[in-house]
Amino acid sequence: MTIQDLENQFTSGLYTKRPIAIVRGSGAHLWDSDENEYIDCVGGQGAGNLGHANPAVAVAIAAQAQTLISCPEMFYNDKRAMLIQKLISIAPPSIRRVYLCNSGTEAVEAAIKFARVATGRKEIVAAMRGFHGRTLGALSATWEKKYREPFEPLVPGFKHVAYNDLSALREAVTDQTAGVILEVVQGEGGVRPGTPEFLLGAQTVCRERGAMLIVDEVQTGFGRTGKMFACEHHGLEPDLVALAKSIAGGLPMGATLIGERIGQLPPQVHGSTFGGNPLVSAASLAAIEFLESNDLPERAKVIGDWFIGELRKIESPLIREVRGLGLMVGIELKQKVTPYLQALMSKGVLALPAGLTVMRFLPPLVIEKEDLERVVEVVKEVLADEIKVAAMPGE
Ligand SMILES: Cc1ncc(COP(=O)(O)O)c(C=O)c1O
Repeated sequence: MTIQDLENQFTSGLYTKRPIAIVRGSGAHLWDSDENEYIDCVGGQGAGNLGHANPAVAVAIAAQAQTLISCPEMFYNDKRAMLIQKLISIAPPSIRRVYLCNSGTEAVEAAIKFARVATGRKEIVAAMRGFHGRTLGALSATWEKKYREPFEPLVPGFKHVAYNDLSALREAVTDQTAGVILEVVQGEGGVRPGTPEFLLGAQTVCRERGAMLIVDEVQTGFGRTGKMFACEHHGLEPDLVALAKSIAGGLPMGATLIGERIGQLPPQVHGSTFGGNPLVSAASLAAIEFLESNDLPERAKVIGDWFIGELRKIESPLIREVRGLGLMVGIELKQKVTPYLQALMSKGVLALPAGLTVMRFLPPLVIEKEDLERVVEVVKEVLADEIKVAAMPGE
């Protein structure tokens, strides 16, 4: 029986899977069970910024696994203590404290709860095309109908305004608003960078009306956009920041950074069994040290600018726009993207969609320029071919 058959027997059925079984990785390369090699621009959907089988992360995990894995926050722990100090040292200057959890949606969920408890208000303003996760609170902030509708009614009190429309945001935020939640670059929504006027304006509106600014850096964090956090591009000083994906070199972990305006949280109102366990804390420390010592945010900027520039040179009537920041890059097509993603895969390049028409690239930040040169070539070839392949269902 193949790996695919075995997995298909009992998998939830929630995911539309590509037909290959990935069994091994190194840096920005992946191999399938037939030993086919791929250049990875899926990058674990953003969890793979440090590259596959990163030796610094692997060594830290192995050492910590032999020392201590479980240690709930009812006890102190050496690795957790070092990690939260590290996170504060790289966080925006408004940040004072850290809550550790296990995923992006949990980090957002906590941020929503903290904004509510700190303000005593209930309402949250989010953006159209925003994606913040799939647990009920985070899902209420997420825009896309297909994720929301099967699970309604969601949490009441959520409003969505057009992204980059400051006057709409100004109108939506009232004295009942607990928080405004925004991505600095919308990821799932199509790789759409926020304008400085909108993001800084949102911060001002929040300050004026007593609401909390929640920045979702789950996808943009840890060097992806050319800075450690995308907030730094605009000098944003959020009250809450949601982190996950590449925070622990690919291990499941999330964090909510808590700013000065949140103040003291009431004890025991929130928590997590696995949050801040020593294994992921050690992995995260190693991951952040690797990002810093290899200057990966700067590398993402330099190589990302070059990559975006090369993609913009491609002349194809299929391209509507190439956009991005650092190594978070999207090509918006004038038609559905799925057949083109499949064609890329058949030529050894893995990329992912962002909505129906955007081809998204989130390569590990360690990717070599030669690999990206190859990606540009393959994108050119694929957009020049007349695509006859069947679409991958649902992607
Ligand atoms: C901006 C953003 N927020 C939240 C999430 C949810 O993260 P997770 O899948 O770890 O729950 C994602 C996932 O893609 C994301 O891109």
